[in-house]
Amino acid sequence: MTVRSALIGTGSALPARRVSNAELAETVDTSDEWIVARTGIRFRHIAGEGETTATLGAEAAKKAIAAAGIDAQEVDLIILATATPDQTFPASATKVQAALGINDCIAFDVAAVCSGFLYALGVADSMLRTGAARTALVIGAETFSRILDWEDRTTCVLFGDGAGAVILRAEEGERGILATALHADGRHNGLLYVDGGPSTTGTVGHVRMKGQDVFKHAVVNLASVMTETLEKAGFTADDIDWLVPHQANARILDATARKLGLSADKVVKTVDQHANTSAASVPLALDTAIRDGRIKPGQLLVLEAMGGGFTWGGCVLRS
Ligand code: UT7
Repeated sequence: MTVRSALIGTGSALPARRVSNAELAETVDTSDEWIVARTGIRFRHIAGEGETTATLGAEAAKKAIAAAGIDAQEVDLIILATATPDQTFPASATKVQAALGINDCIAFDVAAVCSGFLYALGVADSMLRTGAARTALVIGAETFSRILDWEDRTTCVLFGDGAGAVILRAEEGERGILATALHADGRHNGLLYVDGGPSTTGTVGHVRMKGQDVFKHAVVNLASVMTETLEKAGFTADDIDWLVPHQANARILDATARKLGLSADKVVKTVDQHANTSAASVPLALDTAIRDGRIKPGQLLVLEAMGGGFTWGGCVLRS
């Protein structure tokens, strides 16, 4: 029998403060109409004092561990995907590890921005299938509000904070991750980036994006990586029960679904409630759709994301 990385639990966490488009428009030169029409976003959560990438990640992790029905000590691998770590180092994964009271396991961060969770899933899957670990906690957690330029309306209305987590366990059987595909093309790293960093400016910097260029690449890359991952797993778009995409823009979700010939009612959409939470967006959407009963055991899911770098990736899994 084949050893696979089975998805045995999910969890998520959002900051307490929820901000509507109308509230944003009080301080930013924008409107609810523009944001809804161009992006589909209605709300985002913004971290307050004491809420950080690691605290949100730990809260999501605790819920995922509870949903999996395991003891935290069984986790022997933690991978946390983020572009907004609490500190330059140590890895936020080790802060989550400490918050969970796990004294010894493998713990590190992955930086692939909005594709970070897909990258983390791919790495965890390889490590579980080769026996390097048995039970993995994979987290996407972000506090993008802390790297936004709140005077740049072309970016600050698009992002939100949050975290999502999954527990994967190596087991023999049919459920679990069936295929992953990861890509990067560094020629485009000037289209979506942060204008600061420890080794260049010595500052944290702010998000900068050429939105229209990113949009065009996103639709092409996401459709192609979904087809590639489905082919690897031996399926076609007709076999998909649920597409759980990166939640950047409702128009991108609609365009990629159309390109695949997938009906809109098979796409999990949470962008209206959470905005773009970067590495947290796919696991947040996944947890939302599992908890509200849309995703059921045994269904075929496709996960995808694309972000700065550019980086992009896909994953086909049986829930
Ligand atoms: O997660 C990583 C991946 N990221 C993405 O996938 C984001 C991809 N890009 C997008 O989602 C879209 O390109 C945006 C939502 C960022 C922008 O939508 P757009 O339809 O491409 O708008 P645009 O940039 O062409 O701007 C249209 C107009 C401009 O005004 P003019 O030049 O036509 O007078 C902007 O200045 O909208 C203006 N504008 C705004 N107006 C009100 C830009 N931002 C805002 C705003 N409120 N927040």
